[in-house]
Amino acid sequence: MAEAAYPTLSPELARTVIDPHSYAEWDGLLDTFDHLRQTKPLAKIVPDEEGLFEPFWLVTRYDDVMRMSKDNATFLNNPRPVVFSLNSAIEFSRQATGSNMLVDSLVVFDAPVHPKYRKLTQDWFMPRNLKQIEDEIRALANRTVDAMVAAGPEVDFCKLVSGPYPLHVVMQILGVPEEDEPRMQMLTQQMFGGQDADLSGTGMENMTPEQVVQLVAGAVKSFEDYFADIARQRRENPTDDVASVIANAKVDGAPLPDRDMAGYYIIVATAGHDTTSASTAGAMMALAQDQEQWARVKADRSLLPGIVEEAIRWTTPVQHFMRTAAEDTELGGQTIKKGDWLMMNYVAANHDPAQFDNPRAFDAARSPNRHVAFGAGAHQCLGLHLARLEMRILFETLLDRIASFELAGEPQRANSTFVGGLKTLPLRFTAS
Ligand code: HEM
Repeated sequence: MAEAAYPTLSPELARTVIDPHSYAEWDGLLDTFDHLRQTKPLAKIVPDEEGLFEPFWLVTRYDDVMRMSKDNATFLNNPRPVVFSLNSAIEFSRQATGSNMLVDSLVVFDAPVHPKYRKLTQDWFMPRNLKQIEDEIRALANRTVDAMVAAGPEVDFCKLVSGPYPLHVVMQILGVPEEDEPRMQMLTQQMFGGQDADLSGTGMENMTPEQVVQLVAGAVKSFEDYFADIARQRRENPTDDVASVIANAKVDGAPLPDRDMAGYYIIVATAGHDTTSASTAGAMMALAQDQEQWARVKADRSLLPGIVEEAIRWTTPVQHFMRTAAEDTELGGQTIKKGDWLMMNYVAANHDPAQFDNPRAFDAARSPNRHVAFGAGAHQCLGLHLARLEMRILFETLLDRIASFELAGEPQRANSTFVGGLKTLPLRFTAS
C-alpha cells in the first residue's frame, strides 16, 4: 500500500483520541498528547471502518490551536459539525432538520451571520451588566453551601455543589423556574453526557449511534418547545434577564426565526453549566490535594482570580471543537486542503509545555496564563466573564464558611470526548 502523503495516527492512538473512556483516564491521555505534540503535532485520524466518520486532522500544539481559533475566515465552524460526530449521526441530523447539525446556534454560524447573532447578547454578558446580578449569584452560592453544610461532614461535592450551582445560575438568567431545573439538567445530559452511563441515566451508552441521535433529537425538541413558551412570556412582559433579550431581539430588522431563537436559548442553557461545574470541581480537587494553596488563599483573597483561571486551564472542560478549512492552507508544517476537517484539541493545547511551564501542575500563581479553554477569536466563549464571576463568588462563599476539607475517596472523571471533567468528588470537611 502506498504511504499516505500526510502523517496519520496508528489505529491505537486514533482510538485514544475518539474513545470517551480515554478522557476518564486523564494522565494516560495527557501522555498521549505529549507524545503526539512531539512526534506528529498535526496528524490525520482515519477511521478503521470505512464510512464511520470523516477523516480529520488532530491539532495538539497550543500555537496551532490558537492560530486556528483566531483565523475565522480560513477555519469555519460550518458546514461540518462543530463537535466530533459519526457519519450516521450527521446523516440523521440532515434528515431530521435539513442541516448537518441538530441545533443551529452561535457555534454553528460563521460570518456574516455569526456577528449579527453574537451582538444581540454580547453586552448582556459583559462584566458591567453582570454586576447587577452579583447579589443573586451570591444568594445562590450561599444556598448551595447551606445544602453542603447540612449534608456534611462527608459529601459528593459534584452532586451537592459544583453540579447544581452553575445550573441554578444559568436557569435564573434564562427565566427557568427552579422546579423545571431537573428537566433541563436531564436534557443537557442527554445532549452532552450521553457517553457516560452514570451521567446520562438513559442507557445511551448501550445504544446504536442512530438511537443516540434520536434521543438527542428528542431532547432538542423538548428544549425548543419549552423555550418557545418562555419567549412568549418575555415578549409580553420583558424583564432584565437574557431570556428577554433573546425573545425581543431582531436581526436585519426582523425577529429571530423560531429555530434560531430556540438554538440561542439551547446554547446558553447547555454551554453554561456542565462546563463551569467541571472547572469548579477541578479547583476543589486541586485545593484538597494541596492544602497549602487553600491556606494561602484563605490568608490572601487576591489570589482567588488566579485560582479560578488556573482551574479553568487545568480542567479544560470543553475538550475540543472542530473546524473546516475554507481554502487550501498551511498549518504546523502540513498542507491542509479546502474542505479538510480539523479537531482543535484544547486539552492538548492547554498542556503544551512550549506555552505552560510544568503544565500538569495546578499553579494558582501561574502568570501569564493565556490558556485556550475558552477558545479565542470570533467564537470565544460568550459566557467567560459569567463563568469566572460564578466561580469567584462560590469560592469566596466557601472561604467564608468552610474551615478545612480533604478528599474522602477517589474522585472519578466522566467518559466524554466533548465536555468532560469530574463526575464525583468525595470530600470530608469542617464548617467554619
Ligand atoms: C468554565 C466554563 C466554560 C468553559 C471552559 C467554556 C468554554 C467554551 C469554549 C471552548 C467555547 C468555544 C470557543 C471557540 O470556538 O473559540 C465556548 C463557546 C460558548 N460558550 Fe462557553 N464555556 C464556559 C462557560 C460558559 C457559560 C457560563 C456560558 C453562558 C451562560 C457559556 C456560553 C457559551 C456560548 C453561548 C458559546 C458560543 C459562542 C460563539 O460561538 O460565538 N459558556 N465556551
